Amino acid sequence: MSLDLHPARADEARRIWPVAKRARLFGSVAEFDAFRTEGPWRLQVSDRGECAVLERWREHLGIVAMRGAWCSAERMPAFVDRLMQVARDQGMDTLLSPLVAEEVACVYEAAGMRLFEDIVVLRRVSGRRAARRTPLPDGVRIRSAIPADLGPLYALDEMCFDEFWRYDASRLARHFVEDRLMVAEESGEVIGYTLATVIGSSATLGRLAVVPDARGRGVGACLLAEALEYLERTGAATVSLCTQRDNAVSRALYAAAGLRELPGRLCFLVRDASDG
Ligand SMILES: CC(C)(COP(=O)(O)OP(=O)(O)OC[C@H]1O[C@@H](n2cnc3c(N)ncnc32)[C@H](O)[C@@H]1OP(=O)(O)O)[C@@H](O)C(=O)NCCC(=O)NCCS
Repeated sequence: MSLDLHPARADEARRIWPVAKRARLFGSVAEFDAFRTEGPWRLQVSDRGECAVLERWREHLGIVAMRGAWCSAERMPAFVDRLMQVARDQGMDTLLSPLVAEEVACVYEAAGMRLFEDIVVLRRVSGRRAARRTPLPDGVRIRSAIPADLGPLYALDEMCFDEFWRYDASRLARHFVEDRLMVAEESGEVIGYTLATVIGSSATLGRLAVVPDARGRGVGACLLAEALEYLERTGAATVSLCTQRDNAVSRALYAAAGLRELPGRLCFLVRDASDG
């Protein structure tokens, strides 16, 4: 079964916008329009209505991520084949699925993708009593990030995350402009940070990290509590975040802060050029 995809024209993009908005892939139509204009290949559609929102996952990796994908299970193998071709045309050799529920993973597996990351989603619902805020260790303060922090934050991310998860410089710069970045500072050095995003009534905590040398002193718990308090003040009805299932430290930290793990599993799947 063949399937033709092409970069969405303006009229096709208009039809996709409501779906992308419902999936909370973009904060506004202006952001969505800019996304398409800056990289038309990132919005792929077929004449039968299949559609994918793509992006380069990280600048240091040759991975094209499917931020969103709309395709029947039956046509998914042909859809994924075509998206692999789009990735290759962009000089990349790996395709990453959207974050999907375990029950849906088989649809992607049937399209030649394999399980790659196992993710837990945690949520806090507004109105729940916030966890008690532990005092910051002496000499540590939490403040808003400034442009001069971007270099140190990039280095910090590299220390805290493996190459799949760590941000590249441009992604960090984008988060700095679009989202809320708070840093923990000690003796003039950035030792940790959080990243929070609010779209409508839903908030996401996208990042929590503390440099290895500063761990185990309560900095992570304080950064988390500060971000949750801020998100509560914005009126966000829910705060969600994801972490790897095997990240026992962060799961313990989030549980202690009153976040509840949602039932079920989410996963990322990948297909490499070598997978055929
Ligand atoms: C997760 C992380 C931010 C914790 O930072 P931290 O400053 O060490 O955390 P704290 O000292 O505030 O510890 C808070 C809680 O985390 C848990 N925790 C911290 N270190 C732990 C360890 N080695 N083992 C088990 N639990 C641990 C505990 O529940 C602890 O509470 P407690 O001290 O009352 O027992 C840090 O380990 C980190 O940056 N890890 C790499 C990046 C990451 O995984 N981020 C989260 C996923 S996005």
